[in-house]
Amino acid sequence: MAELKVSAIKEGTVIDHIPAGKGLKVIQILRLDRVNGGILLLAANVPSQKLGRKDIVKIEGKYLSEEEVNKIALIAPTATVNIIRDYAVTEKFNVEIPGEIVGILKCGNPNCVSNHEYTAPKFYVISKEPLKVRCHYCERTMEEEEILSNL
Ligand code: CTP
Ligand code: ZN
Repeated sequence: MAELKVSAIKEGTVIDHIPAGKGLKVIQILRLDRVNGGILLLAANVPSQKLGRKDIVKIEGKYLSEEEVNKIALIAPTATVNIIRDYAVTEKFNVEIPGEIVGILKCGNPNCVSNHEYTAPKFYVISKEPLKVRCHYCERTMEEEEILSNL
């Protein structure tokens, strides 16, 4: 099969197998457009055997925190994270939607106590596909669209 060549990176992270159309969202939610001083590559709509089409995000000079990986899981549950050192893939793992989401997602209920006190917001994942979570504090349920706008 003909393969599109997107430049390899020397050091950093490649987020592969992102559902087509979600790559830009990954960049926005990780705020890579602002904080990262290195090369940032987005390949969109790349043919993939597993997904039909996929997006790939390559971030030179950055490794992801656990919180960042969990955010990616919520946006792009099929994503693979590849750690690159001296041009080689030294580690590869699949992201996974956690059972509980602590700290990274804001409750969409303006009256929720988690929006008024210094408590880390906390949610239980009640469905992964389609994504649905419930707030530990006010029991509001949020679905994908609201989740993505509160990350
Ligand atoms: N990659 C990169 N720069 C490198 C090494 C790898 O950008 N120096 C990218 C590759 O282009 C690919 C991803 O990192 O998108 C994973 O690389 P690799 O494991 O070699 O590719 P595959 O075997 O195709 O990965 P998978 O089995 O996960 O589909
Ligand atoms: Zn709440």
